[in-house]
Amino acid sequence: MSEPLLSVRDLEVSFRTEGGLLQAVGGVSFDLQRGETLSIVGESGCGKSVTAMTLMGLTSGPNTEFKGSVKLDGQELLGASNEVMRPIRGDRMSMVFQNPMTSLNPVHRIGNQIVEQIRAHRDVSKKEAMARAIELLDAVGVPDAAARARAYPHEFSGGMRQRAMIAMALSLEPEILIADEPTTALDVTIQAQILELLKQLNRDFNLTVILITHDLGVVADIADRVGVMYAGRLVETGTLDEIFYDPQHPYTWGLLGSVPRIESTRQARLAQIEGQPPSLIDPPTGCRFRDRCPHAFDKCGVEPDLVSRVADPSHLDRCWLEVSERPALRQLPNGLIGLASPE
Ligand SMILES: Nc1ncnc2c1ncn2[C@@H]1O[C@H](COP(=O)(O)OP(=O)(O)OP(=O)(O)O)[C@@H](O)[C@H]1O
Ligand SMILES: [Mg+2]
Repeated sequence: MSEPLLSVRDLEVSFRTEGGLLQAVGGVSFDLQRGETLSIVGESGCGKSVTAMTLMGLTSGPNTEFKGSVKLDGQELLGASNEVMRPIRGDRMSMVFQNPMTSLNPVHRIGNQIVEQIRAHRDVSKKEAMARAIELLDAVGVPDAAARARAYPHEFSGGMRQRAMIAMALSLEPEILIADEPTTALDVTIQAQILELLKQLNRDFNLTVILITHDLGVVADIADRVGVMYAGRLVETGTLDEIFYDPQHPYTWGLLGSVPRIESTRQARLAQIEGQPPSLIDPPTGCRFRDRCPHAFDKCGVEPDLVSRVADPSHLDRCWLEVSERPALRQLPNGLIGLASPE
């Protein structure tokens, strides 16, 4: 396989808080090839956004500690200065944020916001930048883009605003687009349109995509590879088929719940799993999932590494259960820890 475009190794991000050191992310490793779509899934608070923002260099601060490595084309980005990150952010890697108002300013017209972003990085006239902004809005499916470029964010519907944010994120032609829950606030039809747009961008421009979502339907629709996070850790990674048809980690079993087939998961949300994730300030020793895992045994008092235990060397999991026993355990009534709750 060729050198990965993005390579993340043993990423650890901790915040010094009043309550103590909070390790938001730890033990996250993955490679992303050019043109691939990686989906990161997991319950609220498991570290998805912190991972994404760290890739962009947006979690640095006096109270943040990093370990590990984030390499883009071999260049180390973790802990890099703003001078190093500025030409990379937007230009090579760009992000659509979970909170729409992080990237759109309510008091400026949408077209002008894209123009400013372009002109901050490129030596082009206002007129040229506006032509490009209109072209981008058109490309992401904003109808009558030339007129709509003059609108303010509040004059756009939720779906159109999401398109505008994607246009903004694409304005410098990045190689990697990170989309953090880009469809959560949208209704189902609009969600499908936004996903279709991301797929089209991936296909037409070989855009590499990291998509963060709670929604297994979204994952099934779009991902080449999937990373499952729990309590700051990646607990399983593999291809879409491996995760859906041959999941190895009991947490992944729980997330998939009773959803048996990819086709039927379009609207399935992550299943509800009993209990709460552990505190990230004072996490338990051993496997972080063991308090909620019906299959936990004495070995789980030591945390397993994220390694390949099955035939495919790129299908990794963080679980001590014997591989040969897993299919039977998964079939036990309590092997499916929760049931999917279609909404
Ligand atoms: N700047 C910060 N300072 C301290 N703690 C933080 C900070 N940012 C995030 N956290 C904590 O890090 C953990 C992971 O947060 P993160 O936002 O990555 O979760 P998430 O998986 O994106 O959740 P959601 O699905 O709700 O968006 C949480 O416990 C959160 O409270
Ligand atoms: Mg988040």
